[in-house]
Amino acid sequence: MTTKVALVTGGGSGIGLEITRQLGLHGAAVVISGRRDHVLQAACDALSPQMTISYVTGDVRKYEDCQRMVSDALKRYGRLDIVVNCAAGNFLALAEQLSSNGFKTVMEIDTLGTFNVSRASVDALKKHRGSSIVNISATLHYGATWYQAHASAAKAAIDSLTRTLALEWGAHGIRVNGIAPGPIQGTAGLKKLAGGDGSGTSLEDMIKEKIPIGRAGTAWDIAMAVVYLCSSAGGFMTGHTMVVDGGEWMWRPPVVGREAVLRVSKAVEGASRNVIGESRTQHTNGRVATSKL
Ligand code: NAP
Ligand code: COA
Repeated sequence: MTTKVALVTGGGSGIGLEITRQLGLHGAAVVISGRRDHVLQAACDALSPQMTISYVTGDVRKYEDCQRMVSDALKRYGRLDIVVNCAAGNFLALAEQLSSNGFKTVMEIDTLGTFNVSRASVDALKKHRGSSIVNISATLHYGATWYQAHASAAKAAIDSLTRTLALEWGAHGIRVNGIAPGPIQGTAGLKKLAGGDGSGTSLEDMIKEKIPIGRAGTAWDIAMAVVYLCSSAGGFMTGHTMVVDGGEWMWRPPVVGREAVLRVSKAVEGASRNVIGESRTQHTNGRVATSKL
């Protein structure tokens, strides 16, 4: 069987590292990229006993770096089948305190970076039918998220790009999908965005309250979704951003507590029966109803 070759941006740490591991365990040779040489080297050292892996440094904001990532994969392994755009940057910031350059930086890493890597890869991906791009998104922009003006805008634009590229590149045999992770334990993203003092207390409270499944996600949850989307099992999926968040984004505060639902509901029911009874009495007392159905 032909070995598939994958490029994972941001593959040296966090979610990208687990995506890399799972693609490797499922038979792909993987090139990872990022800006920090020592992080990428450490990832390769850790994973190379289990899989075929190498790295190339580069900044996804620079198109020439993205071209270099792709040509490195082609030089080493002779083909490219899968691209996972996982590189991103984020931090909490009030919109009124966020500088123009801060907003631009996140837009450039996330959105421009996703376009750059996809664009630099398309000719190589076209060469074999069954290629896939997976863009790692978020759920920040489904409603609105406090202190995330920059990242929400960036991920919304990525989802749009996912759909447009799927539309245009389907004819080349390239499927383009996204994954929107919820809070993923043990990652830089969660540490930066969960708030609190980083001790994990606020995360536990949030999980208890706001994640229907009752636990934070793991990098493995996201990696397995990537494996599905890139495999023949996901062969009819394109243009879709799959939410993998334990139901977090749908969460709204309940109108009454669980334990009070029956009592409140019966009470309202009883009260409205009385009101209906009273109003019937008022309307028909001594008169013949004149309106007809
Ligand atoms: P992470 O470990 O910090 O991953 C980000 C990776 O991107 C790093 O390896 C980083 O490496 C690379 N990167 C950043 N800027 C880059 C640039 N300009 N050029 C090339 N590479 C760059 O964070 P993570 O939490 O695992 O996040 C991974 C992805 O999941 C991101 O797309 C994030 O938005 C998404 N996500 C995460 C969560 C979560 O709970 N963690 C939730 C929703 C979505 P270098 O710094 O060495 O470049
Ligand atoms: N709050 C407000 N603004 C911030 C900020 C913060 N916490 N961190 C950076 N910025 C602003 C800077 O002030 C700067 O704007 P300025 O020139 O107007 O002052 C701008 O963002 C760029 O910062 P800089 O540090 O030069 O950018 P960088 O390219 O070196 O780093 C980041 C990019 C800031 C996103 C950095 O956090 C990073 O590299 N992140 C990658 C890992 C990551 O975020 N993982 C989580 C993924 S969800």
